[in-house]
Amino acid sequence: MSYRDLYQGWKENPEQFWMEAAAQIDWDQPPSRAFFDQGPAGEWFADGRVNTCWNAVDRHVEAGRGDQIAIIHDSPITLSHRSITYAELRNRVASLAGALRARGIEKGDRVVIYMPMIPEALEAMLACARLGAIHSVVFGGFAANELAVRLDDARPKAIIAASCGLEPGRVVHYKPLLDKAIDLASHKPDFCVIFQREQEVAQLTEGRDVSWHGFQYGTEPADCVPVEGNHPAYILYTSGTTGQPKGVVRHTAGHLVALNWSMRNIYDIGAGDVFWAASDVGWVVGHSYICYGPLIAGATTIVFEGKPVGTPDAGTFWRVIRDHGVKSFFTAPTAIRAVKREDPEGKLIGQYDLSGLKILFLAGERADPDTIQWAEDRLGVPVIDHWWQTETGWAIAANPAGIELLPVKKGSPTLPMPGYDVQVLDEAGHPVAPGTLGAIAIRLPLPPGTLPTLWNAEGRFVTSYLAHFPGFYETGDAGYVDEEGYLYIMARTDDVINVAGHRLSTGAMEEVLSAHPAVAECAVIGIADTLKGQTPLGFLCLKKGIGTSHEQVIREVVGMVRDQIGPVAAFKNACVVERLPKTRSGKILRATMARIADGEEYKMPATIDDPAVLDEIAGALSELKR
Ligand code: COA
Ligand code: AMP
Repeated sequence: MSYRDLYQGWKENPEQFWMEAAAQIDWDQPPSRAFFDQGPAGEWFADGRVNTCWNAVDRHVEAGRGDQIAIIHDSPITLSHRSITYAELRNRVASLAGALRARGIEKGDRVVIYMPMIPEALEAMLACARLGAIHSVVFGGFAANELAVRLDDARPKAIIAASCGLEPGRVVHYKPLLDKAIDLASHKPDFCVIFQREQEVAQLTEGRDVSWHGFQYGTEPADCVPVEGNHPAYILYTSGTTGQPKGVVRHTAGHLVALNWSMRNIYDIGAGDVFWAASDVGWVVGHSYICYGPLIAGATTIVFEGKPVGTPDAGTFWRVIRDHGVKSFFTAPTAIRAVKREDPEGKLIGQYDLSGLKILFLAGERADPDTIQWAEDRLGVPVIDHWWQTETGWAIAANPAGIELLPVKKGSPTLPMPGYDVQVLDEAGHPVAPGTLGAIAIRLPLPPGTLPTLWNAEGRFVTSYLAHFPGFYETGDAGYVDEEGYLYIMARTDDVINVAGHRLSTGAMEEVLSAHPAVAECAVIGIADTLKGQTPLGFLCLKKGIGTSHEQVIREVVGMVRDQIGPVAAFKNACVVERLPKTRSGKILRATMARIADGEEYKMPATIDDPAVLDEIAGALSELKR
């Protein structure tokens, strides 16, 4: 069947399309229908009963594939690798789940997971899924304060963490960060399970912390607990426009059905294939395509603890692909740019037999045509850009390799996937003509696997995503379609920036800068960066009569962002200005500032209060460049 037939088939009968996709999942009780018109934006397979861990692990063992490798851990930082079969994974997850249950974790309880790229992170996620507990994984590059904000929102009964993470040349001391976060948070967990790594053994807090190994002794393994189709599988926090992150909720059944469909139809992966997403479990890519997707499909997934360059060199990706027989590889464009910078000719690629690699997928930020071209030329396989978000959990637009490879247009993530009716709208919500830039929106309902609401914040869900264009989900991205319906994603319409494939809130950074005693007012924008796509840049207006030098204030605010948001914010630059450009109603003109910083043409905003301020900003920027 062609992509066009498939998409048309979905459009004509979405109910039948998704019920057929649902037949690939093992149900304890099959759903009576696919779509349920309930909740703020609809729900999927709500009256079915199902367990995620059963579908990701146990069913493959029952099908006789217990000896197949489920997870390969490859760590160029510790120079080690190990493999876990599906049978071993089932036993390990069942005993962890049993131990959690013995400590009182039940269906619906929240468990925060704060772990680096080790298989135990996936085991912790799967153990929660086995019990129907709702996990919330927090990325290791966030500081204690960000973890505390998530603890207060998710209110977990338990935290599962590792003693440390490993960045090139640096041990990330997770345990002190965890202790500080628990001190800062008003909500306190009942207990913490600490996985002690050999690189650092953490001091346990008596009465609260238990060791991962010790607490499993003498407990019974747990069976899978069937849950309702609309039971939350997990909460994943992502950046919005303010310092308060949004808790994206994922319902169990839609997640299973959509990921299973995407593995076969988008990534062309089935049981026994090796799939590698070089991301982190703390991001949505890690949830969908390091943990759940490949395992639901019965494939082998790779947990990679390393970087594209420097661990030890720009050949690491190719070494992993060769060593483990990767068929389909998924990474961020920034990672390919990092490799290209170190090895422009791709000489290291030639050192490895990559004949098993069939395709490269890119996502997380716009894939620039140069990067796609470089990868295509050097690897000799199709390079597929695809576009999605934490909120959707799987691709909105892609080139569906498992159905047919459509002609690639560089700079476009190709066409919408079944389930997504994507429209480009003007400010008033009317569709615009092909080639015209507008806000990208998706006609409701969203497909299975996408967010039904925000945790503890249904009102915010409605105002953030549904209110602006009634009947549509607002993606927050701007772009256009061409005459053939190919999508082009050009920019965000809000204050979210994308740094090295990581989604960050400039609003959150501004909240930190404003707290500095010398800062009267500030703005943070994302400026173009050849490696990371964007990097944050701060503008500070200082209070009068403060004795501290500008350099000192800048050093201090850089340190504050690192301490309070985390190193991942990559906030390294700020400049002091007299005034910020504003509209007459006082709104800071961040988008215009970003255009000036990137040397792009800009239109003088009609509502600007004082046009001269833009010249001052341009002056400060050229000073900074020098
Ligand atoms: N735990 C702790 N710290 C972390 C971390 C983690 N899991 N991940 C990143 N950091 C730190 C880094 O050590 C760095 O700290 P530093 O300021 O002390 O150097 C900082 O956060 C910024 O990290 P990053 O933006 O990743 O920059 P980098 O210079 O270390 O690496 C790239 C640049 C391009 C190699 C890297 O960003 C990369 O591989 N990006 C791909 C991203 C990706 O896969 N995204 C997922 C979406 S698909
Ligand atoms: P995240 O929620 O962290 O996955 O970030 C999602 C955002 O990243 C999207 O809303 C886009 O702004 C951007 N993004 C992700 N993939 C792409 C892509 N293929 N092309 C353009 N932008 C992308």
